Amino acid sequence: MSELNKIALKILSGGKGILAADESNGTMTKRLDSVGVSSSPENRLLFRETLFSSNGMKKFIGGVILYDETINQISKSKKTIPELISATGAITGIKVDTGAIVLAGSAEEKITEGLDGLRERLQAYYKLGARFTKWRGVYNISDKYPSKLSIYSNAHALARYSALVQESGMVPIVEPEVLMDGNHSAETCFNKTSEVIKKCFEELITHKIDLSGIILKPNMILAGTTSNKKISSEEVAKLTLKCLKENVPSDVPGIAFLSGGQTEVEATENLNLINKYNDTKFIMTYSYGRALQQSALKFWSKDITNMDGTQKIFNHRANMCTLAAQGKWSAELEEK
Ligand code: 13P
Repeated sequence: MSELNKIALKILSGGKGILAADESNGTMTKRLDSVGVSSSPENRLLFRETLFSSNGMKKFIGGVILYDETINQISKSKKTIPELISATGAITGIKVDTGAIVLAGSAEEKITEGLDGLRERLQAYYKLGARFTKWRGVYNISDKYPSKLSIYSNAHALARYSALVQESGMVPIVEPEVLMDGNHSAETCFNKTSEVIKKCFEELITHKIDLSGIILKPNMILAGTTSNKKISSEEVAKLTLKCLKENVPSDVPGIAFLSGGQTEVEATENLNLINKYNDTKFIMTYSYGRALQQSALKFWSKDITNMDGTQKIFNHRANMCTLAAQGKWSAELEEK
């Protein structure tokens, strides 16, 4: 078993999942604005530190993805944030892409950047305690999109990123996110996501990536947010499994889904059914941002000094997600 495979398994095993707390300052400002809290470095740290020092971390969270600002901040207890995270038994991860810009040649699509100087940045993050990383490619669905150009160029960037990350001794999260926005059917989402994931693995293989030392972070197969042909959670689970079985090589140890704008309960219920029907060897867990933090953030915004109350809400959410990662969640448990 390679060192990278061991790290990936440590993050994902036993129903544990990943807390994606790597919102860029721009995105975090939008999240804080939406609950009426000013987006200062201190407030961003306060909310995140509240989550990272909760009891739920030890029981449910195997890895935390940070943003550059947070990995360099010092906690109230004077520990660095990676120290605070590793004291809970979780592994520190870091978002290393620098965001998505307009794709030259296809102005309505995006390409993710961040390869320039990445080798040096990775060495610095390793020294700070990071052992895994994230890079998100983003694709929108419409009649024409995602184009071959966007599918190829984002897959190529994900593969070049992964090679540099593995060279530096860390596990790359490969995140090709096909967005939920639009009125497309689940069938279209299935077809486009399949094409995107297939191309990612072609490029990863060309770039000699050790597939046992990556984590795939895909979207689930859903009808678009404005589609009038919504499908049941059972169908979401079955289509998602079919897509992954057909396109993900069996060496990959685990798949950690993004929530992508689903509600907390939708993301939990869908993950639970995916695990109920999972007849593959892949670990299927969560790497949620919004679906782990939304209600905790809302509660915290009413009194940002109320750590206990905020942690209680976060612990419950992480508990529900971890049950879902084992196929043991039920709607009744949500009420408790
Ligand atoms: P959401 O779960 O809010 O989609 O965030 C996950 C993530 O890390 C997106 O890059």
